[in-house]
Amino acid sequence: MAEMRSKLTTNHFYYHQIILCSFLIISQVSIASSNTSSVGVNWGTMASHQLPPEKVVKMLQDNGFTKLKLFEADQNILDALIGSEIEVMIGIPNRFLKELAQDTSVAASWVEENVTAYSYNGGVNIKYIAVGNEPFLQTYNGTYVEYTLPALINIQRALEEADLKGVKVTVPFNADIYFSPEANPVPSAGDFRPELRDATIEIVNFLYSHDSPFTVNIYPFLSLYGNAYFPLDFAFFDGTNKSLKDGNLVYTNVFDANLDTLICAMEKYSFLGMKIIVGEVGWPTDGDKNANLTSAKRFNQGMVKHAMSGNGTPARKGVIMDVYLFSLVDEDAKSIAPGTFERHWGIFEFDGRPKYELDLSGKGNDKPLVPVEDVKYLPKTWCVLDPNAYNLDDLPDNIDYACSLSDCTALGYGSSCNHLTAIGNASYAFNMYYQMHDQKTWDCDFLGLGLITDEDPSDELCEFPVMIDTGNSPRLQPGSSRVFTRVAAVVLVMLVLPIL
Ligand SMILES: *[C@@H]1O[C@H](CO)[C@@H](O)[C@H](O)[C@H]1NC(C)=O
Ligand SMILES: *[C@@H]1O[C@H](CO)[C@@H](O)[C@H](O)[C@H]1NC(C)=O
Ligand SMILES: *[C@@H]1O[C@H](CO)[C@@H](O)[C@H](O)[C@H]1NC(C)=O
Ligand SMILES: *[C@@H]1O[C@H](CO)[C@@H](O)[C@H](O)[C@H]1NC(C)=O
Ligand SMILES: *[C@@H]1O[C@H](CO)[C@@H](O)[C@H](O)[C@H]1NC(C)=O
Repeated sequence: MAEMRSKLTTNHFYYHQIILCSFLIISQVSIASSNTSSVGVNWGTMASHQLPPEKVVKMLQDNGFTKLKLFEADQNILDALIGSEIEVMIGIPNRFLKELAQDTSVAASWVEENVTAYSYNGGVNIKYIAVGNEPFLQTYNGTYVEYTLPALINIQRALEEADLKGVKVTVPFNADIYFSPEANPVPSAGDFRPELRDATIEIVNFLYSHDSPFTVNIYPFLSLYGNAYFPLDFAFFDGTNKSLKDGNLVYTNVFDANLDTLICAMEKYSFLGMKIIVGEVGWPTDGDKNANLTSAKRFNQGMVKHAMSGNGTPARKGVIMDVYLFSLVDEDAKSIAPGTFERHWGIFEFDGRPKYELDLSGKGNDKPLVPVEDVKYLPKTWCVLDPNAYNLDDLPDNIDYACSLSDCTALGYGSSCNHLTAIGNASYAFNMYYQMHDQKTWDCDFLGLGLITDEDPSDELCEFPVMIDTGNSPRLQPGSSRVFTRVAAVVLVMLVLPIL
């Protein structure tokens, strides 16, 4: 992150006349607002074991989720959504962008198979197509920059030709495409990253002229994760004594400061009243010292309340924000390149149990979330280190092996199982491997060090899970396009400098 920060700050961008955003809001005409009455949620499927989609859809309805974002047009999920009325945003992975950009017939058949086929009375309520996912992320080295706009144009054309006028296109961007200069780190000085400015503005212009929304992913958690000096309260929505002043606007949370930086960047180029969707926002519950149930509930409940309050942000007051929480369930097969917290963003556990109470209306109704019902589990057996094993020479290698092919992210520093003994660590690793491989007897061998038991090794803080029964052999999702998603939070860090 430090590297990206310095890359930004070596650029100078005062050749554009700086117009104060707070001045422009007076003349703002159209305002983004959602006509549905709940926040949305992202449903990612990078898990070794999927819950049955029909049961998840029922859970979404039971809880009153009315908006859903998918990273891919997963046929099983779309089938399960038929007749549900849940408003859906379907993502197109980055790996499809090149072909979609180069061939209009590829875009036409994508729309035919993944949108038209479900767009009938009583079908799936598809509202948005998200073309690419954070395609301008710095980590991708510009791989997708040239393909994103042409792909967007081709999808838009295909939608028009299929007479799907109600379906809007968008592109979810990471917040690292905009920033405020270090010399003036306030939202009103917001601008697009110089090296991507022209490409970004072209896309904004296309969306703007098609009355389509701009989508941005904002992660206050990463501000905290990336900066030990970041003021904790500023990451949440409960107020802070260290507010950020920008002209006569006062910011008490980094989310608003971040969103207004984008709004101001838009307004600098005369995109007034651009509709903005927050495509991902959330807080993980494990894998870092700041990731726990208390802080996740505090953040997500604050986010929902804030979004639904109609207060808006200081630069765009009086709107209900269109926000999709990240995410629905934990995904044990996500890349942990950005950090071990990556597998713990769920509001629900991998098996659909709610982790904490969350009032989705934002109105203070304190009722617990409804779990996914009738989940089938594998038998109540665990794999642990055999207490009678005497030669432990091979133990480290076996732990490494087990962890490399399962998920040991709960063992690390600041995580829920970090208090385990060395023996506990070994058992945890063995069990995760055993569970994620569907409890096959031979998957609890570890050169004779493993032992299958029906005694639950969990303690109060650290759960040794029993995997859900999918009735199939495990199926890992193909090559991830979300590998590098959550690495940059440049603007968040910079904005905080003046209040330290
Ligand atoms: C529809 O979407 C799925 C999931 O992304 C993809 O695998 C498939 O190729 C798409 N269909 C077409 C015709 O492009
Ligand atoms: C981006 O470039 C860096 C440095 O050249 C390289 O290490 C990295 O693998 C590249 N990433 C991608 C996604 O191409
Ligand atoms: C602000 O400061 C007051 C007095 O020092 C303290 O009582 C209060 O808890 C602080 N509020 C926050 C949000 O830190
Ligand atoms: C949970 O995270 C917050 C920071 O976000 C931290 O202040 C708190 O100590 C953590 N709680 C536990 C029990 O670790
Ligand atoms: C257990 O494993 C974690 C993660 O590798 C490590 O941080 C911790 O020190 C280990 N505990 C013991 C007692 O070895």
